Amino acid sequence: MSTRKTYYITTPIYYVNDVPHIGHAYTSLACDVLARFRRLDGYDVHFLTGTDEHGQKVAKSAAATGMEPQAFCDKVSRNFRDLSATMMYSNDDFIRTTEERHARASQAIWNALSRNGELYLGSYSGWYSVRDEAFYVESELVVGPDGTRRAASGAEVEWVEEPSYFFRLSAWRDRLLDFYARHPDFILPESRRNEVISFVRGGLLDLSVSRTSFRWGVPVPGDEAHVMYVWLDALTNYITAVGYPDAASPQFRTYWPADLHMVGKDILRFHAVYWPAFLMAAGVDPPKRVFAHGWWTNEGQKISKSLGNIIDPVSLVATYGLDPVRYFLMREVPFGNDGDFSHRAMVLRLNGDLANDYGNLVQRVLSLVQRHCEARVPEPATRARADEALLGDAHGLLAACRDMIDVQSLHAVLIRLWAAIGQANRYIDEQAPWALRTSDPARMRTVLYALLEAIRHYAILTQPFMPVSSGRILDQLGVADAARSFAMLGPAGALVPGTALPPPRAVFPRFVEAAAQPAAG
Ligand code: MSP
Repeated sequence: MSTRKTYYITTPIYYVNDVPHIGHAYTSLACDVLARFRRLDGYDVHFLTGTDEHGQKVAKSAAATGMEPQAFCDKVSRNFRDLSATMMYSNDDFIRTTEERHARASQAIWNALSRNGELYLGSYSGWYSVRDEAFYVESELVVGPDGTRRAASGAEVEWVEEPSYFFRLSAWRDRLLDFYARHPDFILPESRRNEVISFVRGGLLDLSVSRTSFRWGVPVPGDEAHVMYVWLDALTNYITAVGYPDAASPQFRTYWPADLHMVGKDILRFHAVYWPAFLMAAGVDPPKRVFAHGWWTNEGQKISKSLGNIIDPVSLVATYGLDPVRYFLMREVPFGNDGDFSHRAMVLRLNGDLANDYGNLVQRVLSLVQRHCEARVPEPATRARADEALLGDAHGLLAACRDMIDVQSLHAVLIRLWAAIGQANRYIDEQAPWALRTSDPARMRTVLYALLEAIRHYAILTQPFMPVSSGRILDQLGVADAARSFAMLGPAGALVPGTALPPPRAVFPRFVEAAAQPAAG
């Protein structure tokens, strides 16, 4: 077992009925940033993502293509793996719910629930939405002008009557409320926590956890006419991946309970109500936190296949570059809120925050060092008060960022780092090192050294968000790979005067709109 602090973080597993879009990319990106931050901060991280391959929705999508469900899943799951590569997600594992290890874990949790008297056989008659893979009671539905009933999500529902096993969820109301009370930061943001608590307070119905009208799922142990309800199967992926049911395995003991399940707001109820109830009922500890983030719209419109406005993360990266896209998604919207993607907002961030603020600072400092310090890290003399202020701020960044990362306030980390970058830009203008070249070269060297050191801090701390560009900046500062972790912030990893630096190259090119076509005639 690891003696280091551990951090187990998961994305939802993605339905394989669809091509990956910006929503999927976003959930995983947030996890990737958190995983990278914790790794750089010395944690033993386990970052899990994967695909949700069972259930009626996937079965129907497969049937529509004429493919066998497994072959269909293999094909679509591959797109999500490819997305991980395109977006540079640093996941340690990729789970698929059609894997053998997962059938074993799902049947094991079923058996544990059954042994503990948490399941009974009955019959379900009620509404079901295949799109949401969720059961609804009449009062949750809205009747549209055309007379059809829909879930609040807009999904169509159908009437289902079939034999089904039920989980005694109704009996978990008070224990769940007690659990939320004892773990006040189990659900973040707080507004979401309040919604969940009032939902649970209103009373819970027993939950149908098996289906008999189709076959594409994990068979219920001992009653193979049933397959497990896809959400019970899917949620179990989080423990499958760390070795459940082998609770004594080193992996399970190291990583479970998970530190964080990252989810979109639409699937919070499954994670914050059903999942801890299933786990406690099966005798397994619940996770430490569920964070529900908001949804993206596209140029003000809801993203949907029928509107044809799905944003493809691959083409986004092709247009703007990977790091600018990663930066934009993490910076544009306070993490937890809904947000809008627009080309204009993207270009403003790229040319403003990245090219002007960060890129120019780096480029100016490195060019001065190249020209006036023989392309070597200059030797600083005694620091003036302004230098102390700049470096003091840089040294304080890690502690400030950590506090924000602890509560998944990802945008706030970037706002804080850009406040520091703004300070460095003011400092270089005030100190005007270019003007000191002949009048006070020692002072020029001190100013440039302070700036290089400040930039080293910014680049180390922007790595989780923009791994490629930050790496390029660190290359240009002559920082070795082994000196890029957070342990090297502050004086520990201070740049060594005399180190030779390569010729500077711009890291954040401006985005230039393609020239308009000249009008014909
Ligand atoms: N398979 C389930 C999750 C099971 S986890 C045990 C599922 N899959 S999904 O593919 O439909 O959605 C995965 C994630 O994408 C969710 O967190 C969802 O919130 C997110 N998004 C889908 N569209 C989105 C936006 N337009 N914006 C932001 N995130 C959105 O649900």
